[in-house]
Amino acid sequence: MVLKTSIFFVGIILLASCTEVEVTAEKKDLANIEVDGQTLYMNQCTVCHGPDGNLGNSGSKDLSKSTLDEAAILKIIKEGKGTMPPFEYLLTTDKEREAVMQYVISLRKEEK
Ligand code: HEC
Repeated sequence: MVLKTSIFFVGIILLASCTEVEVTAEKKDLANIEVDGQTLYMNQCTVCHGPDGNLGNSGSKDLSKSTLDEAAILKIIKEGKGTMPPFEYLLTTDKEREAVMQYVISLRKEEK
């Protein structure tokens, strides 16, 4: 009886520690996704714009030479323009779109 009870408790403790680890890992992933504009840009935008913004695939504009302001960039990311598709379904939060927009502007500064 005593043995059975302690096995039961060890089981509970193991179960509890596993759950805790999983929850922490999940939270960490979400936090990274929300703030990392460079990763989002690399995943969503390089196909056409390239890692430096100047690839020009599918007739895309050179982001390193772009003169648009923050609001205009956010609008294009959200709604698309010409052959550029809208990204509001992939970059669903303001935070994600702002992080990508900041990264787009940083491409410009590095080029100068
Ligand atoms: C399918 C190819 C494609 C992808 C993917 C793409 N774009 Fe574009 N992008 C374009 C094209 C084409 C234009 C030019 C649109 C026009 O002016 O008609 C453009 C224009 C832009 C402009 C305006 C530049 C200017 O000065 O006029 C910005 C900013 C921009 N893209 C940002 C992004 C960002 C950020 C991403 C990723 C979230 C992205 N694009 C993904 C094709 C793409």
